[in-house]
Amino acid sequence: MGARSPASYPAYLLSGFLLAAALPPQGADACPSIAWISFQKSCYALLQGSSEVYSMDDARELCQGNASGADIISINSKDENTFIQSSFCSNWHGPEYISLGMFFDTDDDIFKWYDDSKVNFTNWIEEESHNELLNTCATMHTASGGWEKVSCEHLPLTKILCETTVLYEKTHLFETAWITIIVIMSTIIVSMSAAFLWFLYQRRISSRPRCTIHNSITQVPCDSETFLIDEEDEYSA
Ligand SMILES: *[C@@H]1O[C@H](CO)[C@@H](O)[C@H](O)[C@H]1NC(C)=O
Ligand SMILES: *[C@@H]1O[C@H](CO)[C@@H](O)[C@H](O)[C@H]1NC(C)=O
Repeated sequence: MGARSPASYPAYLLSGFLLAAALPPQGADACPSIAWISFQKSCYALLQGSSEVYSMDDARELCQGNASGADIISINSKDENTFIQSSFCSNWHGPEYISLGMFFDTDDDIFKWYDDSKVNFTNWIEEESHNELLNTCATMHTASGGWEKVSCEHLPLTKILCETTVLYEKTHLFETAWITIIVIMSTIIVSMSAAFLWFLYQRRISSRPRCTIHNSITQVPCDSETFLIDEEDEYSA
């Protein structure tokens, strides 16, 4: 394209403005409420248990009650374990032990997370346990980040650490809507600019001096003449 018409500058400004408006603010809170802090794709909240929270089921219900889809904590990587350990030091300040959302499944003879995520990371303080694992649950020692096996009857339930996934869908929907608007606006702007340039171009052509045919009525218009000559050249070639 040739020189840009000054008329299209507002269009560029408008596109820029729309783009800026479409970008979600950095660190947009994608967690259910300010009670939650985010790390990678999850949000975490340390909720206050009550006298009604006296089992793992109650603890899980407490999490779900605060944010739908939330569950008691599961830890799937060393990074996540480190994040939680450091959050107890910097944000939550204790307690000494919290319950992990895992239990020993005697059918399969392995520990499992309540939220069904894969047990691909463990951080046991004592690796081997020769005790009977029936009705065994797990806790985290918050100062060291180490895990300990404990009877499910003796879980610490005064504070419950809950986890839920970051609310991506909401953000996604918002972005999709904006992208659609931008695409439509850009298309309109580009077509209007193109139409305007075409209009200017047409005006310039029509204001050009034309071939004059005063001398003779039989004179062929310029275009046809060129065409005829071209054709002759072709035949003689
Ligand atoms: C979630 O827990 C926080 C912290 O205890 C509390 O302030 C908030 O009201 C709770 N929200 C819901 C919906 O239960
Ligand atoms: C462990 O599994 C979870 C899902 O269950 C996954 O998100 C995480 O990336 C995995 N971590 C490693 C270290 O493979």
